[in-house]
Amino acid sequence: MRIIILKDNQAVADFGAQHIQNKLRQQPSSTLGLATGSSPIKLYEQLITAYKNNEVSFKDVTTFNLDEYLGLADVHPQSYRHFMNTQLFNHLDIKLTNTFVPDGSTTDPFKTCADYEELIVGKGGIDLQLLGIGKNGHIGFNEPSSSLASRTRVKTLSKSTVEANQHFFNPDEFQPYLSITMGIGSIMEAKEILLIATGETKANAIQQTVEGPLSAHCPASILQMHSKAIIAMDEDAAQQLHDIDFYKYVEKENQRYIKS
Ligand code: F6R
Repeated sequence: MRIIILKDNQAVADFGAQHIQNKLRQQPSSTLGLATGSSPIKLYEQLITAYKNNEVSFKDVTTFNLDEYLGLADVHPQSYRHFMNTQLFNHLDIKLTNTFVPDGSTTDPFKTCADYEELIVGKGGIDLQLLGIGKNGHIGFNEPSSSLASRTRVKTLSKSTVEANQHFFNPDEFQPYLSITMGIGSIMEAKEILLIATGETKANAIQQTVEGPLSAHCPASILQMHSKAIIAMDEDAAQQLHDIDFYKYVEKENQRYIKS
């Protein structure tokens, strides 16, 4: 794992956006895995700015989102499809037909999950997967105790995840507690992974991910087994790491020969 500790939220967004742009310059027809939530919002803003400045194009890019609420139609303002369209896709030259989000309004979730897996394989797999991390160490909506080999499937959200996402919903609005999520095994097949984490509420999950044992109790700890995973975080999210000086030293050395 490459562990990158940056000053703040903005620096993490800048790094992540630059990393994605570098990937698209090398491979303009990349397939990206994307996340929703608060973590990538600034990063997406940076990508939009870069596109508007003619620094990057998404016209040949395909995307797959990690997850969607089960029971929300794609037009629902809290659906992850709506989030992606409004926060990113509508502002780029990407073809909406090349953007995929699990169908939360499906009447046959099991088929929808199997089809999603097939579609990813059919597009040649994910070249670069962007991840956020839950306070409990989840990636996608793979909550603690999820099989580390799991595939795209229906998952029940934990109480802490429902609470963490409550602020996106109006108090009188139905908040789903079921999701369709890519599995941990599916995520691990991405050729490259970039996880971003900011704020002290993520500090414990980050410590478990980087230094804890490999365990379904902290799903993100599986990234220890990925040969090309970057964990980019701000100082607040890094504050519980025991070997923080070592990671900073190693990354300083990395800068001599790694471009991004
Ligand atoms: C969202 C997703 C989740 C979030 C995680 C962190 O598509 O897959 O794993 O990345 O819940 O959410 P935020 O960024 O809102 O703290």
